Amino acid sequence: MLSNKPAKLDFGHPPETIPFWKRLVHEALSLSTPTPFYLFSALPVAERMAELDAALTNAGFQPAIGNRQPKISFRHWLSCKTQPVAPLLRWWREQGRGIEVVSEFELRAARAEGYAPENILVNGPAKHHWLPQFELHALAVNFDSPAELARLLPQAKKLNWRCGVRINTSEEFDPENPQFPTQFGFMPDEAVTALKKLLRAKARIETVHFHLRTNVSSVRVFERAIGEVAEVCRAAKFSPWHLDIGGGVPVRNVLTRGGKVYDGEFGLRSFAQMLRQSAKLFPSLREIWLENGRFISTGSGVLVVKILDVKARRGVRQLICDGGRTLNALMSVWEQHALLPLTERRSEEMLTIVHGPTCMAFDQLARIPLPRSLKAGDHLVWLDAGAYHIPWETRFSHGHAAVWWHDERGLRLVRERQGFRDFWGQWLP
Ligand SMILES: Cc1ncc(COP(=O)(O)O)c(C=O)c1O
Repeated sequence: MLSNKPAKLDFGHPPETIPFWKRLVHEALSLSTPTPFYLFSALPVAERMAELDAALTNAGFQPAIGNRQPKISFRHWLSCKTQPVAPLLRWWREQGRGIEVVSEFELRAARAEGYAPENILVNGPAKHHWLPQFELHALAVNFDSPAELARLLPQAKKLNWRCGVRINTSEEFDPENPQFPTQFGFMPDEAVTALKKLLRAKARIETVHFHLRTNVSSVRVFERAIGEVAEVCRAAKFSPWHLDIGGGVPVRNVLTRGGKVYDGEFGLRSFAQMLRQSAKLFPSLREIWLENGRFISTGSGVLVVKILDVKARRGVRQLICDGGRTLNALMSVWEQHALLPLTERRSEEMLTIVHGPTCMAFDQLARIPLPRSLKAGDHLVWLDAGAYHIPWETRFSHGHAAVWWHDERGLRLVRERQGFRDFWGQWLP
């Protein structure tokens, strides 16, 4: 259900956020950009990274960039699946950081953007069906199942992969059906067997890994999961160099459908301090690995749509726009984001449903009070579109949106809006 509650326009965003995006959107529109489009910027990514780095550094860790290895350090991997946008991959690589991939296409994308194999971490299930084709030395690979390990172990040895094992702790479950486990990783007893097998085979086993889910609500959840992983290591008589805790740091400035913040009980400081304490459970630990997607990139983008038609019926106004949930913002099924008119309209507000152009009642970006004077031709800006929007775009009756990219070098178009030829040209004669 969409909320009928009045939306607080800024959703807790700092005051400079909205003018920052409005300025960039005006600039893109001044270049006669067709809507809908996404506009992504590297600057908010850099800000989130700085915050996370400050918390970790204050807790006593050191950043590990490239091959430098101070005592216990932390290393961020870009979660490619969260925001597979070519200029982001390039910008991130220029910072000397590595990338986490979970599919053949993502691995190829990382290679195409210039990542060296030792700066690529391969995760995800069933990769024994596609990874064998790659003859890449020194990849970091976290195994996900006994079958995968059996198939890939000879290659891991031959190519000197830096191996890890993903462990499915009791803190990991399907968030929509918490009584059921997820399909990922080794159960703890299987993980002990896998670690022993890797040790016996004299493979380069260095890492233990978990990824719990997205938007983990509390630091304690991570702490308990790390405790279970330490138990597995003890049972396997294995001392990892790397503890890879996946992603899951919760998003900011975004509300649940019920109107709650995701990060209400999660502090970055206590997260970092907990990691510092938990690191003591691993006597040979050199690095903590983090693979945060949503926390880092949600705030780095907006979706811009244009109002095409306006209706009023049964006490609500309906704005039919050229983009919306079905095409561009599946996240709106679960989340409420700040949505603002690009040009301020001073008039009485009325409950308004913002629809996309597809023939689905489901296609509703928001149901919030908006100025009654909004009219066809006006633009709306949906904030926090920088995570899991591109991977979940559809081509439902329409083509993909254009994409703009902004970084220290300015603003530029990086993907054209999909035209008919591309939309229909996929079919063989
Ligand atoms: C293995 C792994 N690492 C990292 C992430 C990123 O998660 P998040 O965006 O919640 O930080 C995911 C997301 O699915 C994942 O599966």
